[in-house]
Amino acid sequence: MTPSDHDEHAAPDEPRRVTLSFTPSGKSVRVPAGVTVFDAASWNGIAIDSTCGGHGTCKKCKVRVLSGEVSAQKLDFRALTPEQVQDGWRLACLAPANDDLEVEVPPLTTRPKAATVGVGRQVILRPAIQKRYVELADPSLSDQRTDLERLRDGVDDLEVTVEPRVLATLGRTLRESDWKVTAVVVDDALVGVEPGDTTGTAYAIAVDLGTTTVVATLMDVKTGTPAAVRSMLNKQQPFGADVISRISATMLDPEGLPRLQELAQSTISELIAEVCDEAGVDRGSVYEVAIAGNATMIQLLLGIDPEPLGVAPFILASRTYPGLMAADIGLEVHPFARVVVLPALGAYVGGDIIAGALASGMDRDKRLRLFIDVGTNCEIVIGDGERMMATAAPAGPAFEAASIRNGMRAAPGAIETVSINDDGMKIGVIGDVKPVGLCGSGLVDAVSELVRVGVIDSSGRFLPDDQVKEKRPDLAERLVERAGERHFLLATEDESGGDEVVLTQRDVRELQFAKAAISTGWRLLLEAFGAEEADVQQVLLAGSFGTYLSPSSAVRIGLVPKLPVLRIVSAGNVAGEGAKMVLLSLPERHGAQALLDEIHYVELSDHEGFQDRFVGELAFPTPS
Ligand code: FES
Repeated sequence: MTPSDHDEHAAPDEPRRVTLSFTPSGKSVRVPAGVTVFDAASWNGIAIDSTCGGHGTCKKCKVRVLSGEVSAQKLDFRALTPEQVQDGWRLACLAPANDDLEVEVPPLTTRPKAATVGVGRQVILRPAIQKRYVELADPSLSDQRTDLERLRDGVDDLEVTVEPRVLATLGRTLRESDWKVTAVVVDDALVGVEPGDTTGTAYAIAVDLGTTTVVATLMDVKTGTPAAVRSMLNKQQPFGADVISRISATMLDPEGLPRLQELAQSTISELIAEVCDEAGVDRGSVYEVAIAGNATMIQLLLGIDPEPLGVAPFILASRTYPGLMAADIGLEVHPFARVVVLPALGAYVGGDIIAGALASGMDRDKRLRLFIDVGTNCEIVIGDGERMMATAAPAGPAFEAASIRNGMRAAPGAIETVSINDDGMKIGVIGDVKPVGLCGSGLVDAVSELVRVGVIDSSGRFLPDDQVKEKRPDLAERLVERAGERHFLLATEDESGGDEVVLTQRDVRELQFAKAAISTGWRLLLEAFGAEEADVQQVLLAGSFGTYLSPSSAVRIGLVPKLPVLRIVSAGNVAGEGAKMVLLSLPERHGAQALLDEIHYVELSDHEGFQDRFVGELAFPTPS
């Protein structure tokens, strides 16, 4: 096939272009020949599953070439069965589009299982949003006060500054509503004047902007109650599962930052539209949006180059972003609505952790507590009501199941629980459907149970077959060898009705690295705090992953201190709870700011002996 077959009008020095048609979306794109299917799709808004951002390591970007030629690469044969390769399946990030192609993209779960609420505290309602209904006297020749003076006199209990754009419509609104209006004040700014009495209606939206999942809650600030909550996958996910992949995407391509900004904004905008629709609330009645996110997510949302966050010495653009308007970041709510960004302590202890520490009362509870947000980057806070310290441990992608052979997000078909008793093994699958993969909590459960029953030893190795046969003959036939590696079958082909779901020896190693990073983190933090493991009175497991983690499994593999399981609390979406609190209470908003001075950050990477401690933490505790 010649270039002219594809693009007969192309100038001679223009790159040859090819057409890719995607099903089931029906979208077609023209791209220069040689661009990968993954890039062509991602840059044109077609989401293909990925946790590595197109770097050929996660093996999640499976697509099927329905017409056109894409030869299979070595890695395709490792990630796919021979039958799948034969059927046209390829890894999209390794598939160059040298020809016109028709490509089937498997549907992506855009609503992974996510915690939408979490541990929070009751707050006394003192929102920044205030409304005053006033009936003003008509102007006259003897009363020559300006429109603004007249209004200000009507709300003289509030000291207000005036958003200049409000003046553009003030005169008409006053006259058309017969001088009976409601003044809307946010903090100390007059942001709107509405006809009639609208004092009964005032909303704000709390957003937990996670790297994986974004949660938005519409709050009725008159009552302090949530009116609707929705969550969805962060649309940036084709650029990789973790913040480093997203930062890299901005460094590799000048279009990366605006693209990621747009995707963050459109994720939040879509959720805003959904929560308002669900509650039947006009978006114009939403006067504030609070956003809690890690530092990278916030800088991407605001269009701030995140590169300094990804390279030593890891510097934030700013801890706070005062004076931000929702319209500045493309959010369609009230035209003069404000945005409150939860402040960040450092590049790896962001506003989401400050929000979580606020919601869980780390600054006031007298018990010695550890707050652990389990994820690719694991943030740990310790506090006893007097002092607080924080650190971050790079746990890697195991908990997001990104580097796990059959790993998947917590979506229907994911094995989320595994238990083994005398009768054999039992798995719990999200959505009560046939298992297709393994999510992070299922991974922790599987390994923890296999360690407990002695199929995996404390060094993390599957025991030799003869020993397993002796100990657990019922499980022995699940231990198989595939391509020279030992696998444990969590679901056979018969049980899954499709492909096997396996736990590989390498998966166990990945989990060991992650848990060692986290346990090294809290052990060193405890030392810096001058406390012992036995002194810890409560562990709060935060974040979407921490919420679904089984406390007993977490203790058994040494991920958290050895405490009675009742003292290990799934804290849920505490970042979202913190964001709600700053919308409902100005003192809590100031409290979030004060946490920046109160929490002392401890850097682990330059800690003497970190590496030795990490190696020492790789083993699983011996079952008692
Ligand atoms: Fe292709 Fe990860 S392997 S996107």
